Amino acid sequence: MNEDLLKSKPLKENRRNFLKGGLVLGGLALLKPESAISSPLNEKADEFKILTGPYLQTNFGNGISILWIASKDSSSWVEYGESADLLDRKAYGKSALGLKPADRLNCVKLENLKPGKTYYYKIFSKEIKDFQPYKMTYGETISSAVESFVNTDISKEEVAFVMLNDIHDRPNSICHLLDLNKGNATDFVFFNGDIFDYQADEQQIITNMLQPCVDKFAKNTPFVYVRGNHETRGKFAREFPAYFDHVGNTSFTLGPVRFVILDTGEDKEDSHPVYAGIVDFDQYRLEQAAWLENEINRKEFKNAAFRVVLMHIPPRYSGDAHGAVHCTELFEPIMNRGKVDLVLSGHTHKYKVNPPAKGLNNYPIIIGGGPKDGFRTLTKIKANKKQIQVSMLDDSGKQIESYVCLKR
Ligand SMILES: [Fe+2]
Repeated sequence: MNEDLLKSKPLKENRRNFLKGGLVLGGLALLKPESAISSPLNEKADEFKILTGPYLQTNFGNGISILWIASKDSSSWVEYGESADLLDRKAYGKSALGLKPADRLNCVKLENLKPGKTYYYKIFSKEIKDFQPYKMTYGETISSAVESFVNTDISKEEVAFVMLNDIHDRPNSICHLLDLNKGNATDFVFFNGDIFDYQADEQQIITNMLQPCVDKFAKNTPFVYVRGNHETRGKFAREFPAYFDHVGNTSFTLGPVRFVILDTGEDKEDSHPVYAGIVDFDQYRLEQAAWLENEINRKEFKNAAFRVVLMHIPPRYSGDAHGAVHCTELFEPIMNRGKVDLVLSGHTHKYKVNPPAKGLNNYPIIIGGGPKDGFRTLTKIKANKKQIQVSMLDDSGKQIESYVCLKR
């Protein structure tokens, strides 16, 4: 949305989903009653626990990232394997300059996985109680239950995913909208920006996004996430990326589709007083335009049956604010030249299917709605080699828009 009309809900209103996940300690499930659940900030300072997770992210290259947040610094790892009874492999977070991580925020990448194979895994964190230069004192080791995921075969015939956008700090919307998919298989969940109003702190990220994702799907199905303009705001915006494997522009191939994700940045001029002189989104968009130019010349892009771009601010049809206009100027000519088949966006809070328009956008631009009840949408996408089918549901579950892209 292009104005700051949205007020954050008090965080505690949304805490009832917090820590519903079945974390285990020494093999015993620690399922807390809801009445005992509160902010980690209010917990006893010495309690070592997993605040949220595990949650999965991936770029679909036979690898998956498993993330979780512990309440204290720890040595953490994942044990995994092809059978729930035999987790015979172990992976740590990425070492930097020879040092394994010893952090609260954990991201462990499993690589070289077999296409289409189901993997079982369990996360472990060993508390660092006292970190002396020549003597480390560890505390207890905590772990999750055994979870599983399928390493998606990128050569699969059909791809299916759902898009959520413009949730704006309403965690119940994440659960409500995903329920509308009625358990249909989805290769990933895509968050197309403005999941928050602005970034306040870690608790907001956990309560208003990560925990509902963990409760609903993210232990077993990955999500892909790109920022909207609102994720760039607030005092915690610079810490925010550390909670994810990836939140910026990227591309990947899955089945018949080449996916290209753009981070459209802010909607006002960089010089606008509300940004207080500390943003640089014009340059960021320019860099992405150069990256996009390179992407459309890649063989993975050219050879794909379909090319789908996901970006929060649509490249047209979202008003004349600076960011929106800059997106049109920079990205539209490249996307037209690259023969993009479909763009999926959010931002306007009014759902709309904009068909291709001669001389402007040569591709449809489909915009999801939100964030208030009655305006929220779940956008379901299925693609095979012949067509992409888009079905948009309102928050009562009724299909309100549909669109089919045929192979050109
Ligand atoms: Fe927005």
